[in-house]
Amino acid sequence: MPIPDGFVLGVATSAYQVEGAASTGGRGPSIWDTFTHVPGNTHDDVPGDRGSEAYARLDEDLGILADLGVDSYRFSISWSRLIPDGVGELNPEGVDYYNRLIDGLLALGISPNVTLYHWDLPQALEDRGGWANREVVEWFAAYARRAFELFGDRVPMWATLNEPIAIWVGYGLGFFAPGIADPKTGRQAMHHAMVAHGRAVQEFRASGATGSIGIVVDVWKRHSVAPTDENQVLADEGEDESFRFFFAELFAGGLSGRQVRLFGRSDTMPHIAPTDYEVAGTPIDFLGINVYGRVMVDSTNFNPYWWEQADTMPGGNFLSNGTELYPDALTEAVQTARSDYDVTVPIYITENGTPVDDGVVEDGVVHDDDRIKYMSAFLRRAIEAHDAGLGVEGYYAWTLLDNYEWTAAYSSRFGLVHVDTDGTFDRTYKMSAHWYRDVAHHRRLPV
Ligand code: NOJ
Repeated sequence: MPIPDGFVLGVATSAYQVEGAASTGGRGPSIWDTFTHVPGNTHDDVPGDRGSEAYARLDEDLGILADLGVDSYRFSISWSRLIPDGVGELNPEGVDYYNRLIDGLLALGISPNVTLYHWDLPQALEDRGGWANREVVEWFAAYARRAFELFGDRVPMWATLNEPIAIWVGYGLGFFAPGIADPKTGRQAMHHAMVAHGRAVQEFRASGATGSIGIVVDVWKRHSVAPTDENQVLADEGEDESFRFFFAELFAGGLSGRQVRLFGRSDTMPHIAPTDYEVAGTPIDFLGINVYGRVMVDSTNFNPYWWEQADTMPGGNFLSNGTELYPDALTEAVQTARSDYDVTVPIYITENGTPVDDGVVEDGVVHDDDRIKYMSAFLRRAIEAHDAGLGVEGYYAWTLLDNYEWTAAYSSRFGLVHVDTDGTFDRTYKMSAHWYRDVAHHRRLPV
């Protein structure tokens, strides 16, 4: 199957997961530094200080990107590397690092796709209430303005937030940084994130930058294990609390009546200031969708404290890592955006991938056939959606390198390229990297 002309093939990473150099280069701490140093919060209590050591290996990783032949590299800026206290003084070493990264990519003909926020709020701002404090809206807008001033002349594609549901997981459930388990606070923080996003888009327009700007939302459609009324209610609630929260504010003028009733019942309806919906709905240029699969809901086996009820999938086509391979998730996510929210802007699949237990390097080869199977199936759906006129304009593999997978630390490995996170941090191509390289070089997905 040919990769259509102009269809973007990329790989994605995020700052906290790959950079390392947590306390060098003038970087200030983020909430994830604090969180991963608390015993009990991460797998084997391993903190994220080293990431994949990408900060130190910039040139080497640029070489890998060039060799893979991808069109675009999606990465995020560490807010506290650029502005250590979150507001105020810039860190010149941080500015230099991102300049070298952006210029390095451009010199190789690889298009930078920059996310401003991939979960790593500066700790100094958390100390002032973080996403729960309404002032975050202007803190974020000011940070975005600085980033556009510094890099807006060279970055063609920007995203404000990556998967804002992480803010719910961090403030509403407490499973992610900053570890606050207060649903009312969590819902308010989610709303602040939407207004902050809109303000950043306004700053982008005001900056005169010529690129495009959007947001990245992860879509996990809920499917019922059995067609009962109870399951349908759970499915609707699960979607309303997650991606539909963001889509409603971004594309539908505000939360739906069903959402207002749902949040009212649990006393978690956020306070919405008069112009908030207008700001949150500031028009964007593209929508990024991260898609990994679906969530099965089963009212007979439901854990209200976990937003993903993923362990009850019947039937399905499972990989050896226990993940269901359900590539229709991609098509369904795109169709939901198009039909339920009338999204007309281009859609990019900004993340897709699967963790494969591939830590062992045999004779220099890492066998990760399941990853190839999984990504091929999703990439095929992305191309089919493009060809069917659904406006899917690109696909980014998650992820370039084995990296720090949040609370799972290094135990969950999504990379196309293996990283020796136990020792040297050396990079070794997995079979999936060879496969993706072939796809990119021949602009063809093997059948
Ligand atoms: C989504 C997140 O954006 C990314 O940071 C994470 O590593 C992947 N999903 C895999 O869990």
